[in-house]
Amino acid sequence: MQTDNHARRILLGISGGIAAYKAPSLVRNLRVEGAEVVPVLTRNASKFVTETALQAVADHRPRTDLWDAEAEASMGHIELARWADAVLIAPATADLVARMAHGIADDLLTTLCLATAAPVFVAPAMNVKMWEHAATQRNIDRLRADGVTVLGPDDGEQACGEFGPGRMMEPEEIAETVTAAVGTPRVLAGTRVLVTAGPTREFLDPVRFISNRSSGRQGFAFAEAARNAGADVTLVAGPVHLATPTGIERVDVVSAQEMKDAVTERAAGADIFVSVAAVADYRPHTTHDQKLKKSDQESDGIRVALKENEDIVGAIAGVEPRPFVVGFAAETQNALQYAREKRARKRMDAIVVNDVSDAAIGFDSSDNAVTLIHGGGEVELSKMPKRAIARRLIAEIAALYAVAGQG
Ligand code: CTP
Repeated sequence: MQTDNHARRILLGISGGIAAYKAPSLVRNLRVEGAEVVPVLTRNASKFVTETALQAVADHRPRTDLWDAEAEASMGHIELARWADAVLIAPATADLVARMAHGIADDLLTTLCLATAAPVFVAPAMNVKMWEHAATQRNIDRLRADGVTVLGPDDGEQACGEFGPGRMMEPEEIAETVTAAVGTPRVLAGTRVLVTAGPTREFLDPVRFISNRSSGRQGFAFAEAARNAGADVTLVAGPVHLATPTGIERVDVVSAQEMKDAVTERAAGADIFVSVAAVADYRPHTTHDQKLKKSDQESDGIRVALKENEDIVGAIAGVEPRPFVVGFAAETQNALQYAREKRARKRMDAIVVNDVSDAAIGFDSSDNAVTLIHGGGEVELSKMPKRAIARRLIAEIAALYAVAGQG
């Protein structure tokens, strides 16, 4: 695991198999995980995926040729091999696996494989018979013995119509595995981060409650990103259907009052408090011990008296010493204006706002688009997966926290 703060640099080798058409999606997934990517195509790979498509999604121009004088002048192949934190070959054809296993360096990609000291990953993709062939299996064993990590292949239907092992592992899984193995910048190492997530439930009686549409996904993604950045994370979660990310202390609560108690108890020990939870603003004045019956109600309907829940984030921000406080706001109109006011009113160091009137982002969606508002300005993060949003926010918040600590 590396501890420096630059983005993980991945050299993505693409060889000439049908799965190469997934390379742009793999580049995108790697970038979502925070990596910087230089694609390197073999001559045959260019028959399945264009340089133009890769150029559009990667942050670097794709490389194809060992003898490209212009590209070599800007970063020579040995420099490129040194630049990489990891070399990933996806898809790796039977031919490429064979050449690697024998230490052949007859094009740019295989030369880079020999010249790098970085960990090497291969995601084989080929016809099932080719995969099962004794020669391929011998080559794969050879690569494993040389320290190469082999990802997959998956089982299933193949482009050639056959079934069995040989499909390339899905781009999302490849990206997660490789970036987890090479680590993410540890900008929060040594800090304790307290995160709340999900909705709360305010019970009217033992079976009925008032709640909201929060899925908890953004808060969980945030907790996970903080952990990946090296923080010691406690996650206070309302009722959600999400697995606990490994290495995170989770405290389950149901009501706003329980959430407030859990947070108050832990806030003094936290350096950063991030209030992602959609805390119910009101609870029923009375919670009945027994299930309410229709016959108990008046003929013209039912009236439920509500009382306000205490504001958790405001309470934590209002007491010194206090952690660095970040709030979230979901708005359906005047998003920025309301969020700026909310930040000031609740004395938060920063607030993250999203417009939930757009169905493509927020609540049940796996994507989000937000603006981070802080004392010194505003940062807009356009639509991307919630995990990517979380990772970007962590980088911004870590920088703000570092400045606040100096001030
Ligand atoms: N929040 C909180 N405790 C509450 C209500 C909200 O800590 N009882 C936090 C949320 O976790 C979030 C921020 O306050 O970080 C903003 O929440 P929001 O519901 O948008 O704020 P409200 O003050 O309830 O504003 P609105 O009038 O828009 O409901």
